[in-house]
Amino acid sequence: DPTLLLTIAGMVQFNQYFLGQNVSVTTRATTVQQCFRTVDLDEVGRTTRHLTFFEMLGNFSFGDYFKAEVIPWAWELVTTGLGLEPDRLFATVFLTDDDAARMWADSTGVAKDHILRRDGKDNFWSMGVAGPCGPCSELLYDRGEAFGATWDGAGKLDDERYLEIWNLVFMQHTQDDEGNIVGDLPRPSVDTGAGLERIAAILQGVRTAFETDTLAPVLKAAEAVTGASYGHDATSDMSLRVLADHPRSMATLIADGVIPSNEGRGYVLRRLIRRAVRHARLLGVDRALLTDLTGVVVDLFGPVYPEVARNAELITRIVAG
Ligand code: ALA
Repeated sequence: DPTLLLTIAGMVQFNQYFLGQNVSVTTRATTVQQCFRTVDLDEVGRTTRHLTFFEMLGNFSFGDYFKAEVIPWAWELVTTGLGLEPDRLFATVFLTDDDAARMWADSTGVAKDHILRRDGKDNFWSMGVAGPCGPCSELLYDRGEAFGATWDGAGKLDDERYLEIWNLVFMQHTQDDEGNIVGDLPRPSVDTGAGLERIAAILQGVRTAFETDTLAPVLKAAEAVTGASYGHDATSDMSLRVLADHPRSMATLIADGVIPSNEGRGYVLRRLIRRAVRHARLLGVDRALLTDLTGVVVDLFGPVYPEVARNAELITRIVAG
């Protein structure tokens, strides 16, 4: 999508089908999509929830199934498929979306008082620029009181404790760059997105994405090269999380053809490299260590993403500066 710098969600490549500008060879798709979000760059490391690079799981309908089908399927997948306890799940719906609220109540086992209505800030999705958009319905998973305050039944849910694991977007409209709804899609469609790292953390019984099997090895390598130990000090933990997160982004961006520069995608890559170097210095390390970390990423991701393995040497050369 030429209007975006980077792939921010699994649906980006399918815009043309939602908008009816092109006809897909299939009306249904499921994907695992490498995604990158820069809006949260300063948050990354500060929280245990945000990542720059993540893998988004999704299923999509281009004018095929809609709300009535996808809501019970989502429920079946997370409960029967992934084995999550039904009592721990919450479903949020857009304020005026009576259909979605009714379908969660009638065609899934979610507790009636776990169906919550929220406004457009949380429950209306768009790419942030002109394109398809629509009301959405999120599934939240209650990770228990060790993670945050128990919901009082009326106010806001604690984001760390009630973790958003999946977003179902009912794509119906088009918006302009200012966020005004300017039309309807030719056919109602579905775009969903689930963060692989968040779901993995729940299924692997670990507290955060940084302790899952796709990130823990990079975090461990960051501990080894800096001599800092994770879980003892809030300031150094933040730096270690930056050093675990950013190398994955660097490696995958470079494997996709991005090189550091003063503008566009290249500037995003340059900022990541600088931010990682700064956090290494904050941990007292002056020597170049990023290539050690991108090396771990190449070992982890190379067998899954051939372009990462193919570009291993280039990744090292660019990150070494
Ligand atoms: N496109 C939606 C999201 O990124 C699913 O949350």
